[in-house]
Amino acid sequence: MSYAHGMPAVYDNLASGYDLAFKPLDALGLTRLRRETLALLPVDGTILEVGAGTGANFAHYPPCKLAVASEFSIKMIEVAVGKTSTIRLVQTNAEMLPFPADHFDAAFATLVFCSIPDPALAFAELRRVVKPGGRIVLLEHVRPDNLLGPVFDLINVASMAIAQDHFNRRTAQTAAASGLKIVEVRKKLLGIVNLIVCDVN
Ligand SMILES: C[S@@+](CC[C@H](N)C(=O)[O-])C[C@H]1O[C@@H](n2cnc3c(N)ncnc32)[C@H](O)[C@@H]1O
Repeated sequence: MSYAHGMPAVYDNLASGYDLAFKPLDALGLTRLRRETLALLPVDGTILEVGAGTGANFAHYPPCKLAVASEFSIKMIEVAVGKTSTIRLVQTNAEMLPFPADHFDAAFATLVFCSIPDPALAFAELRRVVKPGGRIVLLEHVRPDNLLGPVFDLINVASMAIAQDHFNRRTAQTAAASGLKIVEVRKKLLGIVNLIVCDVN
């Protein structure tokens, strides 16, 4: 594990206020983006979510044969657990998943790869646990590849100091460099948010 800086503690502290804090963003379009993201998952498959947080995506899961929501922070899980009776919750680190190889038809994450310390390691784990030909879908805020890029480099200094949240990651490029096949990148909000669709080779 590479959590020398105490990242889970950040989300333990945020857990009780997380849903309220995200309410305005949800109303402004985040809920619609969550729906669009989860609509790209296969129906009646085996699905893994990483960094499930307080379970904000649970209402949008497709019908599943098996749905597993994994999350590192126990306090976030304590909020999430009240939102589902069918999705299995597992406390784990996305960089070291406790599942066998080729276990899932698909995996997804929303707003998670900004805070994972070693995204390449997490992508390697997703490649391992998702079957060849399976799908990985990500909804992430990233460094925009336009004039806003340098602004996000500056924001990153503050966001890292406050919440260990990276605001200038190039997540699609990292996924590709980790061996995933990028099928599509849908740019949202001037490229600040990317919906990234990948296949496992
Ligand atoms: C900004 S929140 C997003 C939560 C949820 N996915 C959502 O869309 O509302 C980021 C979440 O990722 C989790 N997280 C960060 N790094 C993680 C890791 N390495 N393994 C598992 N969860 C992680 C945090 O604990 C936190 O719950």
